[in-house]
Amino acid sequence: MNPLPPDLAAALHRAGERTAPFGTVVHYFQETASTNEVAGALAERGAPEGTLVIAGAQTAGRGRLGRGWYSPADAGLYASVICRNRAAAPLLTLAGGVAVAGGVRAATGLPVEIKWPNDIVVPSGRASPRWRKLAGILAEASSGADGLQHVVLGFGINLRPAAYPPAIADRATSLETELGRAVEPGPVLAEVLAAFAEAFRDLAAGQRQGLLDRWRALAPSATGSRITWETDEGRGEGTTCGIADDGALLVRTARGTSRIISGEITWRR
Ligand code: BTN
Repeated sequence: MNPLPPDLAAALHRAGERTAPFGTVVHYFQETASTNEVAGALAERGAPEGTLVIAGAQTAGRGRLGRGWYSPADAGLYASVICRNRAAAPLLTLAGGVAVAGGVRAATGLPVEIKWPNDIVVPSGRASPRWRKLAGILAEASSGADGLQHVVLGFGINLRPAAYPPAIADRATSLETELGRAVEPGPVLAEVLAAFAEAFRDLAAGQRQGLLDRWRALAPSATGSRITWETDEGRGEGTTCGIADDGALLVRTARGTSRIISGEITWRR
């Protein structure tokens, strides 16, 4: 573990009342394999809910669907939090999306959107590709004999332009690229955690509707977009018609409405 950089410490301190319990305990690493991995190991050893793990760089950052997350030094925010509340667990991924999108908007004013399931993107007009990805969220749950033990919710936010691998270079962007100015990581981290804490409190209290409404408002492409998809059950195509209250993407097809809970989506015009 390394000392938390002073700018991050100051931002977390200023926002402490709004972010609690997230960030009350912080583990900072200049470099680590994956903050999700570290947070998972800490959770197994009994670390409390809200524990925050941040890294300046990751050597084996994890993405969705078994992919990696490119995490060079001085280019991004790489962070994970430990959640234990069972009532909040089912919608934590949606809460993460709302928190990152809402936090980035609050800290910088950049009008980012959510693209199902939880990519944080900047719309790019009619150009191809249609969006550039700014941030991603990965929730990893651990269960034992008596049910859910904990969920680690990790988020990666591109702050500055980097030498992205060719496979993602034309689809990735950063806050500084989009805004054309320098961006301090501290306020972005604090606003994301504050938005997450708010969503988490609602979920823990059994209130889901506000979060679902916020997610839907931040994800215009979840309604009226032509998509094709591929899951273990096969391929399909149709037009998105919102999300169900459990987070499944609803798609109107020639044969009725399909529910997609995971898999690869291709967005058409
Ligand atoms: C995605 O594929 O969109 C999800 C990416 C999630 C990346 C973050 S970076 C911090 C945390 N630690 C990881 O190893 N992954 C998540």
